[in-house]
Amino acid sequence: MITAATIKIKDDEFVELKDIIYKNAAISFADSKKYLLENRLSKRLQELNFTSFKDYIYYLKYDAKKREEMEVLLNQVTINETYFLRERAQMDHMIKTTIPALITAGKRNIRIWSAACSSGEEPYSLAMLLNEAGLFAKAGIEILATDINTEVLDFAQKGLYRTISFRGVPPTIQDKYFRKDGFSFQLDSAIMSKVKFFQGNLFNPMLSAKVGRLDIIFCRNVLIYFDIPAKQKVIDLFHKSLNTPGALYLGHSETLNKISDSFKMENFGGGIIYRK
Ligand SMILES: C[S@@+](CC[C@H](N)C(=O)[O-])C[C@H]1O[C@@H](n2cnc3c(N)ncnc32)[C@H](O)[C@@H]1O
Repeated sequence: MITAATIKIKDDEFVELKDIIYKNAAISFADSKKYLLENRLSKRLQELNFTSFKDYIYYLKYDAKKREEMEVLLNQVTINETYFLRERAQMDHMIKTTIPALITAGKRNIRIWSAACSSGEEPYSLAMLLNEAGLFAKAGIEILATDINTEVLDFAQKGLYRTISFRGVPPTIQDKYFRKDGFSFQLDSAIMSKVKFFQGNLFNPMLSAKVGRLDIIFCRNVLIYFDIPAKQKVIDLFHKSLNTPGALYLGHSETLNKISDSFKMENFGGGIIYRK
């Protein structure tokens, strides 16, 4: 019997597979990640009764189910690490500065996009903090949340989280918005209803029309997986999608330095905001 561990990826297969992943999601795999890809996909090959990566690549390229398989493949290769109130200073900045300024300027409908939201902790954190600040009563606020990975989106829409998602969450927030359910915690349905999830690949040309125009974009801890041309494409999409004034928050280890000069960078002490 073939076991997942016995399906080895050859060098030329690795090159072809990483090219396919790059063309579809811009995620780059360094040569040192060959065994990671092999490990992550071996089980899938076994499920499909393939004995080699060559057969799997052929299936991805030519089979009638190639689109569905691309989704399965991308679900296997993304890194979805996230937790509630991650890099909270930027969220607080949005609550205390960016949104009040938009409201003062007369904006009555504010649209926020959590692009690459993973399992939902980021957009739900924004919804909880907006609720804490009473901002849903002051303006129409819409939160869109997208990710390329359909499995994490299904998870997000259940609103059921394990302890690992709560590192750094004050008990007052956890107790107020979550109900214990066995070993998990169920998010309050009123908060869940504030976030609209849908699948979105940042490199799909249709995404811009799907999300429409935004006032605030959170895109954190995803640009690190892209090379410079891919980062430039995404930043260009964000610039086109944002209204003026508009705000872009990136992850702490991400920067627009050498990527784009279309935004004005401002250091607010707890982090960086890029303004349009
Ligand atoms: C490390 S998580 C970051 C989650 C959250 N933004 C945070 O900072 O906690 C990165 C997410 O980017 C998503 N991703 C990777 N490539 C993508 C692409 N081309 N389009 C949309 N999402 C992508 C992954 O599926 C993953 O959920």
